[in-house]
Amino acid sequence: MSKDAKDYSKYFDFSDAKLLSEDENGKRIRIRGREINILSEPDHRQEKQRGKEDVQVLYDTMVSEEFMTLGKDKHYLVYTFGCQMNEHDSETIKGLLEQMGYTPTEDRKLADIILLNTCAIRENAEDKVFGELGHLKHLKVEKPDMLLGVCGCMAQEEGVVRRILQKHGFIDLIFGTHNLHRLPHLIQEALFSKEMVVEVWSKEGDIVENLPKKREGLRGWVNIMYGCDKFCTYCIVPYTRGKERSRRPDDVIAEVRELARQGFKEITLLGQNVNAYGKDFTDIQFSFGDLMDEIRKIDIPRVRFTTSHPRDFDDRLIEVLAKKGNLVEHIHLPVQSGSSQVLKKMSRKYSREVYLELVGKIKKAIPDAVLTTDIIVGFPGETDEQFEETLSLVREVGFDFAYTFIYSPREGTPAAIMEDNVPMDVKKKRLQTLNDAIVEHSRKSNDRMMGAVVEVLVEGVSKNKDHMLSGRTRSNKLVHFEGTPELVGSFVHVRITDPMTWYIKGEMIPEPVVTSDAV
Ligand code: SAH
Ligand code: SF4
Ligand code: F3S
Repeated sequence: MSKDAKDYSKYFDFSDAKLLSEDENGKRIRIRGREINILSEPDHRQEKQRGKEDVQVLYDTMVSEEFMTLGKDKHYLVYTFGCQMNEHDSETIKGLLEQMGYTPTEDRKLADIILLNTCAIRENAEDKVFGELGHLKHLKVEKPDMLLGVCGCMAQEEGVVRRILQKHGFIDLIFGTHNLHRLPHLIQEALFSKEMVVEVWSKEGDIVENLPKKREGLRGWVNIMYGCDKFCTYCIVPYTRGKERSRRPDDVIAEVRELARQGFKEITLLGQNVNAYGKDFTDIQFSFGDLMDEIRKIDIPRVRFTTSHPRDFDDRLIEVLAKKGNLVEHIHLPVQSGSSQVLKKMSRKYSREVYLELVGKIKKAIPDAVLTTDIIVGFPGETDEQFEETLSLVREVGFDFAYTFIYSPREGTPAAIMEDNVPMDVKKKRLQTLNDAIVEHSRKSNDRMMGAVVEVLVEGVSKNKDHMLSGRTRSNKLVHFEGTPELVGSFVHVRITDPMTWYIKGEMIPEPVVTSDAV
């Protein structure tokens, strides 16, 4: 190890790293001939902290003129690996790139810049990204002028950045989740310096309004808050996304109004924990229920939200959702486990009983509510009995759909150092048993829809048969039926004739029909 590298042992546990310079703007290092400009880097310890300092809202965030021609006659391609929040970030990234003059392409050989917007939630999400980087390395060799960047939640992880610096020196740009708005500047830096540019903020920045967003289709996402303060013991998100920060109600409402004006048929309000909305306001009292009550009055046909945390699901929210209108009767309410002991170890801050009580309240106020959930099997120490409790909860609630996962240890989270004594084959068996139970209920629930008439937002034409259309009910069920392409984008009524497990088939009813908005 060179003398200079000594202080940077975090990165330089190999022989040929050299510190070139360091000042208040960061440091420049050289690893195996590759020069790297580290403007700032992820720091797990800082990511853990939750400060009390006020979050500023920045409005004056136009892409400055000097960057507007950087992408002239050039193409971009963005790959997205994560959740809806991540997808929505990609819309912002695309918006910024287009303001810089880049045009989109699906052909990676044509692309002048390729960005991988990554997810860190489970190990297999990360494996996919490293696999993709392996493929892109060949392209980079053929086309050295192409810029290759990694952003999103993985970029917020110390271990990932270290691995990229050590093994993937062909990457040109690494930036995190808090500094998307810095993209034009970082691209310029990478283009002109030819160095790898690294800028990852460990502390969340301000709320940045008015960034361009490239939305496509009929459905639009709207961030209402950023970050998560829940720190469930298995989860990486509070570290990669920072502390909870709510957008000001006026900004959210103005954005939804604008989407309504542009003709969007459906919006989804986004946050890691949407019902913690407003808890960080110090000057006003305004909850997620209050926000939904305002958005209910906007002329947009359907409003969804994700994800809600059972702990913060209060009576005010239930009361507002029961008013329905454009607030659809689908609630995604991740339970994670049916065992109070496991929930405690996960630090979910509710018990099985409290969750079931909440479900009871929701069903009473909204009898046709469709509930879906997320569940983790094989959490460290989960016993057969505790898993059985998850199964019994699933049967008792009757979820129409669930995202189910095998627990994946995440470096730096408290659960990663708990003894993980459940063998992989047991975890896999539990996952299968759980999925079977969910399929069983889902099928029954769909069967009950036989003969019913549902309102469907027509979203597209079937890939294989162009006389077949597909769309979704208010409760987010996928429906296939015969129809002509000009119906895409409109609402139709469909009578269910053939319920399946993951979708339902039906026939369109030509006349508008008054129907209960039950399904
Ligand atoms: N904020 C949302 C979920 C975000 S992550 C919420 O709290 O509900 C989406 C889902 O991934 C989680 O609900 C959880 O089921 C799963 N998940 C998160 N961390 C995981 C891990 N380490 N291993 C397996 N699944 C995980
Ligand atoms: Fe992760 Fe829990 Fe926050 Fe959801 S609420 S993002 S599972 S820490
Ligand atoms: Fe993944 Fe980050 Fe979303 S870890 S699930 S992309 S918030």
